[in-house]
This record gives sequence, structure tokens and C-alpha cells, in this order.
Amino acid sequence: MNIVVGVTGGIAAYKSVQLVRLLIKAGHEVTVVPTEDALRFVGLPTWEAISRNPVTTSVHDDVARVRHVALGQGADLIVVAPATANTIAKMTAGIADNLLGTTLLATEAPVLIAPAMHAEMWRHPSTQANIETLQHRGVRILGPAVGELAGGDSGPGRMVEPEDIADAALALLAPKDLAGLRIAISAGGTREPIDPVRYLGNRSSGRQGVALAAEAAARGAEVTLIAANIAGDVLAGARHPSIRIRQAGTASELALAMADAAETADAMVMAAAVADYRPVEVAHRKLTKESGGIPVIELVENEDIVAGLVRARREGQVIVGFAAETPETAGDEEELLARARRKRQRKGVDLLVVNEVGWERGFEAGENEVMVLGRDGLVTATASGSKRAVAAVVLDALRPLWTAGRTSV
Ligand code: C5P
Repeated sequence: MNIVVGVTGGIAAYKSVQLVRLLIKAGHEVTVVPTEDALRFVGLPTWEAISRNPVTTSVHDDVARVRHVALGQGADLIVVAPATANTIAKMTAGIADNLLGTTLLATEAPVLIAPAMHAEMWRHPSTQANIETLQHRGVRILGPAVGELAGGDSGPGRMVEPEDIADAALALLAPKDLAGLRIAISAGGTREPIDPVRYLGNRSSGRQGVALAAEAAARGAEVTLIAANIAGDVLAGARHPSIRIRQAGTASELALAMADAAETADAMVMAAAVADYRPVEVAHRKLTKESGGIPVIELVENEDIVAGLVRARREGQVIVGFAAETPETAGDEEELLARARRKRQRKGVDLLVVNEVGWERGFEAGENEVMVLGRDGLVTATASGSKRAVAAVVLDALRPLWTAGRTSV
């Protein structure tokens, strides 16, 4: 697809070099349209080299091909990063005194902007009013992030990181093949309290579940994300108008939240790592060495949430489970598959996503490698790569089950 990246005059312009690289790496054709001021921060040859396309700031170049409107007409998406207060004001007013301005006026493509400026300029009522107007017109505003700014100040005004801008841009280009799907996804790991300060937990970061939520929302689904102890920076990946986040700390809270979501969801994905056991009793005061002897924590089994969802399943509802296996328990690949088949059958899920985990694999990592088992016990898909790429494959496997359910209800 054709993406125009508008770059305006802020120090964050250097970070947009990485943004352009990421968009090209994702297979898109990128044309960079800098403003004159932007070129004071990063020069024209850099933009041409990195985008592999000619770059100009002027409406008077390439007049034969009416470049000043052609770029906007031919764009599938326009990203402005960084977007200065000045350019934001010009966009709001429809001022077209440079190539970026004419391109923005001549387009019907979605527009995403990543503001970057000093905190005072961001907070100024005129900037705030402009942002509100642009939002009303459907422009997607990403950030600004809060943090250190040029000149040593800090506050809201930092451009969002290029990786996050690229994700948001690619999401806008994604096909909306899950529009109408209501999906509930559990993510993270439960913590079963022992006393007010200690718990039994696991290493699940929630990254795979958050990636599933983000991918589903990007493809048009309405998502409820049930988050079990996910760190703020990971959960930030699920910031999207179509994602509703509910917190659930323990297995019992997660069970309640999922049962609640199940009433309206078309599909349920149990990506959370749920503790199989919890302490029979929770001490109301912190256990100390003075309590005497080495404590023995008696455990009781938690309910199998996914099995409960399957029992209460409405017609056409699709249910997906996850199975994390350590290779040591699973033995070889065949044994892993056999265990996964038994698990799928026992749990009664439509799809079981199987991944190998270990000290260095699966948990907390950015990448994952999975096998998706279908109702017939066959491997319907395999995926490896970023958790977002894995999420896309899992949703590809889910989609036909949902549409089949829709036609039979
Ligand atoms: O049996 P195992 O724990 O490997 O199964 C994993 C799958 O079952 C995951 O989808 C997990 O979310 C779900 N699960 C559950 N309730 C439990 C334990 C696991 O729903 N108590």
C-alpha cells in the first residue's frame, strides 16, 4: 500500500527515520513529505535513501504529474510524525502552503498524527482545540507521551516511539475482516494470595493476549480484555477505542469476569495463565518467621475456567484455549502433539494454541512459536515470530469458525 509520511520540524524527526524503515519492512511503498523546517533536523538525502523514493518539500516540483494533489489522492494512509503545534494548527485551518499541506487537503485516506512539542505548547488552549477538531474529523491522534523533552523539561509532548506509530499505522491499513465480532480475551497470569504481601504466581507477561486484543481490534472486532496482573507498559499495547479492559487478579476473579463477558461474546480466548491451585486459607496478617516453624501452605484446586465456559457455551460461540508445554514434560514433537490433542478434547475447546515454554522461551519474550489444533485434532496452522504475527494467525484460524457459527444461528 502507499503510505505518505509527513515529517515536520521537531527534534523527534530523527526517530521518524526508524518509522519509515519499519513501514517499508512491512512491505509498503513510502513517500516522505518533509516540511522545510524538518530538513533542518534530518536532511533530504536521508529521507530519499531510506524511503527509496524522491523527496521534495515544494508544490512546484514535478508539476507535470500534479504532485501536490497526486500524493494525497494516491495515498492509502498518511502519517504525520512528528506533528508540531504549527502543522497541527495548519491542518485544522486547511492551510496548504507547502507540499504536506496540499497532500493532506487532497486526501480521503485515513490520517494518523503523532504530536511532539513542548508541554506548554501541547497544553495551550489553541492546540487543545485544534486536536479536538481534528479528532472530530476522524484524524487519529497518537500521543504525545509523557517524558523528557528537548531542553531538559519534562511533561506531555514527547513523540510516541516509532515502533508504536508503525503498529498503529499498520492497524489502520489492516482489513476489517472481524467487524461485528465480539471477542473476550483473558491475558496475563493470576496471582493467588498467601498473605497480604505474598502470592503464588507465574511468569506470564500478558504480551500474547495483549497482541491478540490489539490485532482483533485493528481488524474491526469489539474486544473485552480481561487483564490478570499485566504491567502498565505491556497493557499500553491494548490502548484502542474498541478495547475495553477489565482487571482480574485471581483465578476466581478471572472466572467471574469471563463468565460475565461470555453472555455477549461471540468468541472467547483464554490466553491467561491461570493458577491450577490456590492456598486453602489466606492469612490476614503477613506470615513472619516468628509465626514459628516453616509454614506449610495447603492448596485447593481452582476451577477450570475454560471448561466452565465450554459447558455454558451458547450456540455458535467459539472458544479457544492455550496450552503452554515445557519440552521436558512433552518429550518429543509427537508426544507434544498427543498431549495437546488429549488436552483439546478434555477441555472441549474449538481451537487449542500450543506453545513450548521454558526458562528462555514463550514467557516474557517478544516472540513466540505456536501450533493451532482444530476440532478434528489436526494442526490447522503454525506460526512463529512476533506475538502480534502469532496473534494474526490465531485470529485467521478463529474467523471461519465464527462466520460458520453466524450462518447456523
Ligand atoms: O491444563 P492447562 O493449564 O495447560 O490448560 C491451559 C488452558 O486452560 C489455558 O487456555 C488456560 O487459560 C486455561 N485454564 C483455565 N482454568 C484453569 C487453568 C487453565 O481456564 N484453572
